[in-house]
Amino acid sequence: MPLSHGFARRETNVFPNLFLQSLSFLIFHMVNMTETMIRQACAGSADPFASSALSPASTGAQPDLPVETILDEIARVADLPMGESTTLPAQAYTSQAFFNWEVENIFRKEWLCLGHVSQIPNAGDFLNLDLLGEPLIVIRDKGNDIRVLSRVCPHRAMDIMPPGFGYDGHSPADPKDGKPGCGNTRLLLCPYHFWTFELDGRLKACAEMQQAEGFNRDDWTLKPFRSEIWHGFIFVNLDGDAPYTVAEQYKGLGDYIAKWNLAEMEMIIANEWDCPFNWKVLTENFMESYHHAGAHAKTLQPMMPAKDTWTEPEQPHFIRCHLPLKEGIRNQIRDMESRGEQWDTFPPIAGLEGEERYEWGLFLGFPTFKFLVAPDCAIWYRTQPLGPNRMKLLTTLLVPPSTPKHADYSAMLEKGRKQAIEFHLEDMEVCTAVQRGFYASGYQRGRLSHLEMPIWLIQRYLAARSRGTWPTFDRPAAPGQR
Ligand code: FES
Ligand SMILES: [Fe+2]
Repeated sequence: MPLSHGFARRETNVFPNLFLQSLSFLIFHMVNMTETMIRQACAGSADPFASSALSPASTGAQPDLPVETILDEIARVADLPMGESTTLPAQAYTSQAFFNWEVENIFRKEWLCLGHVSQIPNAGDFLNLDLLGEPLIVIRDKGNDIRVLSRVCPHRAMDIMPPGFGYDGHSPADPKDGKPGCGNTRLLLCPYHFWTFELDGRLKACAEMQQAEGFNRDDWTLKPFRSEIWHGFIFVNLDGDAPYTVAEQYKGLGDYIAKWNLAEMEMIIANEWDCPFNWKVLTENFMESYHHAGAHAKTLQPMMPAKDTWTEPEQPHFIRCHLPLKEGIRNQIRDMESRGEQWDTFPPIAGLEGEERYEWGLFLGFPTFKFLVAPDCAIWYRTQPLGPNRMKLLTTLLVPPSTPKHADYSAMLEKGRKQAIEFHLEDMEVCTAVQRGFYASGYQRGRLSHLEMPIWLIQRYLAARSRGTWPTFDRPAAPGQR
């Protein structure tokens, strides 16, 4: 499995009781799942039928559907009232043709988040990632501007920093000095014929080109992509013609999260995951908290019971949910703080008031910007869809710059890392098993709980995009749950 180099693999037993052990056995035919085992199970599931004689093509359990049919069905369910809502056809999660439609009509047209400014704080710092077939470098140039450039050399198409070719900046590795997976360079050098580029992508030098008629060095650059920084997060719009800026799209969101000063935060944890499931499986899982009662029964449910979570009114470009801490935990926090002790993993963020102090704020900026603000940190998930049943995921955690200066920081970081991996493993397991369900003849279109309102809102987003618009622009906005 292509684990990020240097990733600290912890042998964490995430299934402490018999029930969950049996569950894990059913899912992966193993007991006592460790992180390593779950990662191996995911790698083996690149083809969800790898371990059996069957393949999605040969079972015929879920026949191919034309993209138009899948879109018509999404449009139909999106227009049902929340109380009548159902899940989508399996093919929305398995069809290559539908995935291609999503790439063309959603991912390339919308803003996608690539990183956070704290990953590349100095001139020459860069991070590399491949997104939807585009090898990209996100780099801070000498003028301190952050640019998103293609890594495809304008000479003969070489990737100027191919993965595994001895260059830094690929994959998150273990965060070092708050800069997970980043490199630093003074110039960009294509390893094929040694054309060199400035940090802003301009061609600086290329040997032996004097006989190429009409060749002018100034005409050649690494292709720049349209990018924008919003509250410290770096976004790209691959097609370059998104009608709104990130700031315009997420304006209401920005107002909610101003107190967290996300632009000043530092990324201190980053873990990369190879995910054998559709990007919507993860997105739905991230946004609905109904599964606290099941998948997170021992971790999140005791703090933030599923039944108390709720969703705000529908918006064109984002979904906002609230995950309140339960009363007993609030009392515990107050007690501990009155004794000068700290309940949270990291020191609470100064200036948070009322519910901000006692809940997690969960957000999806359409289509893939998943993040949450907690009283002591922010969590961001980077999504790189690879196909209908595969994606790469980076799970990260950010804290204010004062946190790493705290005397007990090492212990806090250790605890934070352990927690981040523990509860994400619970999600990895269910998402992997859900994707397998889509290929089975036993798959049924399920009904949704009111606690799964975000799933219905995601359907309404997909339907709106298929009409070339966004939610609420041509339908009344769905009301919130409070
Ligand atoms: S392909 Fe890059 S220098 Fe030739
Ligand atoms: Fe979860």
